[in-house]
Amino acid sequence: MYHAPDLAALSGPAFHAELQAQLSALIAGERNALANAANCAALIFDQMPDLNWAGFYYLEPESGDLVVGPFQGKPACARIAPGKGVCGAAVVRGESLLVPDVHAFPGHIACDAASRSELVVPLRRDGHIIGVLDLDSPTPNRFTAEDQAGMERLMAVLMAAGQS
Ligand code: SME
Repeated sequence: MYHAPDLAALSGPAFHAELQAQLSALIAGERNALANAANCAALIFDQMPDLNWAGFYYLEPESGDLVVGPFQGKPACARIAPGKGVCGAAVVRGESLLVPDVHAFPGHIACDAASRSELVVPLRRDGHIIGVLDLDSPTPNRFTAEDQAGMERLMAVLMAAGQS
């Protein structure tokens, strides 16, 4: 049974260090990438305050679309065309995108009308982007540079865990 200390009292680097430790414990010994991504989305959504969506989109090689993967939150757009939305832009630019106000981001895709700010982190395997982590918040300016750095490290841990 999943039981982890509530991280609500922590912030900044301490929060991210503990979240990373919890993910490492959660996925230890499991090499199935889908199972680990599902638990990672659930962990982030459970522990990170003030989110309304947390999950993954994966690149579909045939179409170049991003296709929704494991997530927590309201049902979302199944498919994002190449370069579209914050998620597609992060893939094209090859870097994380921290969007303080989604209404000010040209082309933002509103899967949940409640979303006001967003953080998207590319997933890299063997140097290639295979998808993105997408975090949405109903609060403007929810995410910090520390959140971006912490999530980039967290995704490196997840990607190192297994591919099958
Ligand atoms: N807002 C994203 C789309 C995905 S949903 O937020 C879950 C975007 O603009 O790419």
